[in-house]
Amino acid sequence: SEKAFVMIKPDGVRRGLVGEIVSRFKKKGLRLLRGEIMEISRETARVHYGHLQDKPFFEELVDYITSGPVFAMIVEGKEAVANARSLIGPTNPAEAPPGTIRGDFGLAVEENVIHGSDSPEHARREIRLFFEK
Ligand code: GTP
Ligand code: MG
Repeated sequence: SEKAFVMIKPDGVRRGLVGEIVSRFKKKGLRLLRGEIMEISRETARVHYGHLQDKPFFEELVDYITSGPVFAMIVEGKEAVANARSLIGPTNPAEAPPGTIRGDFGLAVEENVIHGSDSPEHARREIRLFFEK
């Protein structure tokens, strides 16, 4: 069994999607080990998205992710990282198929509702960053 870090972004929280999204993870069979509403600092946002710091949209991304509370989660289960990402769908909601969270609830890449870690190693780093300080 494996752990994944998943975070409902501020647009998802503002739009009241937390319950619906959590229920999709549970129905899939992933266990919710922790789930917390939290405000994240610009510093945490910069560390979390550090690999994108040279992108032209980096400041916009930091603004977005700090624009309100997020719902941070640890989910656990078999291949939790890959299974969480398949529930979430592709980065751009316009290209995400219906049935995926981004496909059902998003319109554009600037507000794509949810984050999921992309490897078990990054999941461990993100869990440390969001839950252990
Ligand atoms: P995360 O689960 O959030 O990490 O998304 P991802 O793994 O599907 O995509 P990636 O890590 O490449 O990008 C991280 C986040 O940056 C995306 O989820 C978007 O919120 C944002 N992003 C990516 N591309 C663009 C873009 O072209 N413009 C803007 N404004 N944001 C972008
Ligand atoms: Mg990513």
